[in-house]
Amino acid sequence: MYTLALETSCDETSAAVIEDGRRVLSNIISTQVPVHRKFGGVVPEIASRRHVEYVMPVIAAALDMAGVALNDIDHVGVTYGPGLVGALLVGVAAAKAISFALDKPLVGVNHMEGHIFANFLSHPDLEPPFLALVVSGGHTQLVKVLDYNRFELMGQTRDDAAGEAFDKIARVMGCPYPGGPQIEKLARTGNAEAVEFPKAFHEKHNFEFSFSGLKSAVLNYLHTLEQRGETYNAADVAASFQKTVVDTLVEKTTDAAAVANLKQVVLAGGVAANGALRKAMRTACAAAGCAFYYPEPILCTDNGAMIGCRAYYLAQAGKFADLTLNAQPALAITETAK
Ligand code: KG4
Ligand code: ZN
Repeated sequence: MYTLALETSCDETSAAVIEDGRRVLSNIISTQVPVHRKFGGVVPEIASRRHVEYVMPVIAAALDMAGVALNDIDHVGVTYGPGLVGALLVGVAAAKAISFALDKPLVGVNHMEGHIFANFLSHPDLEPPFLALVVSGGHTQLVKVLDYNRFELMGQTRDDAAGEAFDKIARVMGCPYPGGPQIEKLARTGNAEAVEFPKAFHEKHNFEFSFSGLKSAVLNYLHTLEQRGETYNAADVAASFQKTVVDTLVEKTTDAAAVANLKQVVLAGGVAANGALRKAMRTACAAAGCAFYYPEPILCTDNGAMIGCRAYYLAQAGKFADLTLNAQPALAITETAK
């Protein structure tokens, strides 16, 4: 069975061909990062226009690399939310056009579920149930994955996402967008104990997150030193900030796994590419007797392959969309999972 999958929710135009749900035949990603970098973040209108320009060539390249003809595709999967509405619409329109023209079933995919399913591509033997920590530029969520189509949200951020905090701190420290990898690089040579930053919702069994207080604390720290005419050690600030985020994520995840009685933990989303987070989570999971999984780096950030994997399992369950499928910028994780 061949799945053609499209992903255009933010600043990557991506198309993939997946065989039988878990085998990636192609995963073409055209990134717009250099275009948005000069603005310090994603400009939605520019993102939509670039998607329009690139979506068809990216699909053609994905089919070509997979050696699969459009007519041999069994269904078309597409991200329809959450994300930037104008960006989502491009993928949804392209997928609907292919579905209509070739009479192939259409599958609407939740982007966050796609991030979780990236783990099935990197770990062929992984099966639910497990606990997923989804950490991206727009979301921070703890999700119980009970089955391929049954999810329960245990908690999420009340304000900024973890990746968003990385991006904002990086921007203030003069690093280019996206800031996550830059902060990680800086942090490698810094002292993580140099500055103590606050943690929110620190009490046990609280699975909500908040990163806006931490962000303000880092900004205040930098501004105060600047106003005094003092310099700061960027590596120490990056390391201390990163440690605060990582400790919070690890503590809440292991606590949630214990409460949910789940013995497998998976990381997902762009921030899952962070080496310090992976290392700390691996150690904590080992201590708690949990198996720990994360996707390979290219499958952590936005890509079509993860959408294809999710689409396959929806198709297996007979959960198809029709041509009224529309972009849903604020789509919640449980809306499609039931
Ligand atoms: O999942 P993703 O590609 O897009 C969204 O769905 O948001 O995640 C992008 C986010 C950005 O905030 C980026 O800074 C962050 O993931 N990120 C990282 C790392 N690589 C990407 N954050 C920390 N460390 C990294 N190595
Ligand atoms: Zn994403």
